[in-house]
Amino acid sequence: MNKIISSGNLWLDQNNNHISAHGGGILYYDKVFYWYGEDNTQGYLNSVGISCYSSTDLYNWKHEGTVLKQEQMPQELQAKNMGRVERPKVIYNEKTKKFVMWMHVEQKGYALSSAGVAISDSPVGPFEFLFYDRPVLFEPKEGFDQHTNEKELGNSFRDMTLFVDDIDSDGNGSLDAYVLYSSEGNWTMYIARLNSDYTWIDLPKTSNRIRPQYTIDDLGDKWSRQFIREMREAPTPFKYKNQYYLMTSACTGWKPNLAEYAVANHPLGQFETVGNPCVDDTKETTFDSQSTFVLPIDPNNGQYIYMGDRWEPDDLGKSTYVWLPLTVDNSGEVFIEWQDEWSYENYWIN
Ligand code: DGJ
Repeated sequence: MNKIISSGNLWLDQNNNHISAHGGGILYYDKVFYWYGEDNTQGYLNSVGISCYSSTDLYNWKHEGTVLKQEQMPQELQAKNMGRVERPKVIYNEKTKKFVMWMHVEQKGYALSSAGVAISDSPVGPFEFLFYDRPVLFEPKEGFDQHTNEKELGNSFRDMTLFVDDIDSDGNGSLDAYVLYSSEGNWTMYIARLNSDYTWIDLPKTSNRIRPQYTIDDLGDKWSRQFIREMREAPTPFKYKNQYYLMTSACTGWKPNLAEYAVANHPLGQFETVGNPCVDDTKETTFDSQSTFVLPIDPNNGQYIYMGDRWEPDDLGKSTYVWLPLTVDNSGEVFIEWQDEWSYENYWIN
């Protein structure tokens, strides 16, 4: 059995196929890790859907199949119509006992830029696609983004993730959860509180795509704009000692760039940027990767795994993974260190 994490190399599943779960995230449920991501095996414009792999040790992964197939999505999202899904994340809802998936649904040209939501009774699917839409309508002082038709459809929804807090602040039976996404044509990041089922933001779903969902007056204190006009994407949050951390990248397509992390005392912010967490990353490319998830290992002691993608734009399915130790020290500073090969059981005891 493999006991080593080796970034930037092929990572084989139990069938000896390179794992295809890019832009992914991990759900830990009933002592099993489930890794969901983009199934890019057929390339960028031939999206297969969302894959799932399971593991009990984070080293050895079993392919559980394509848990949401592109061909089962609405017509206009199907691969033959240039549909594509990116950065899927799955969380478990204690109240409804459902596994809830959010994703960025897209078409060639990146103008569709909407949120897709799917649910399942099982972590390994099949997931039922519910709908896609844009959660928020807000006109920034610079105006709506025209490429994504924001004025008519609501603010664009691209790189996304979900974050579940460890508190149930309104006692509704499910932990507080949030969606974080690049909006306003990627200029500004949005964070919105989810409803108690996690199937939409914290307001009833009332409309279809003809009308944008909610305006700023409806949203009250349930959402926020962060990194205004800073063009950040790849949101990757985690929590340490009641502080909320958020890693992001700059927007340079598939090319890696310098990561930054920010800190806030509430999941909705205000996030204050601290700087680059990568140690000796001389190329300033986040060790040739782009963030997608931070997995807590022993969060009380500041021990996490940073997960990123090393994209291969010409053959997206061959993109590899960069998984590195992420440490938060006592003063709250974050460090990601390069390791050619490492195991999380041994790293922090050395
Ligand atoms: C960077 C994003 O983080 C990816 O998810 C993907 O959307 C690419 N850009 C597309 O260029």
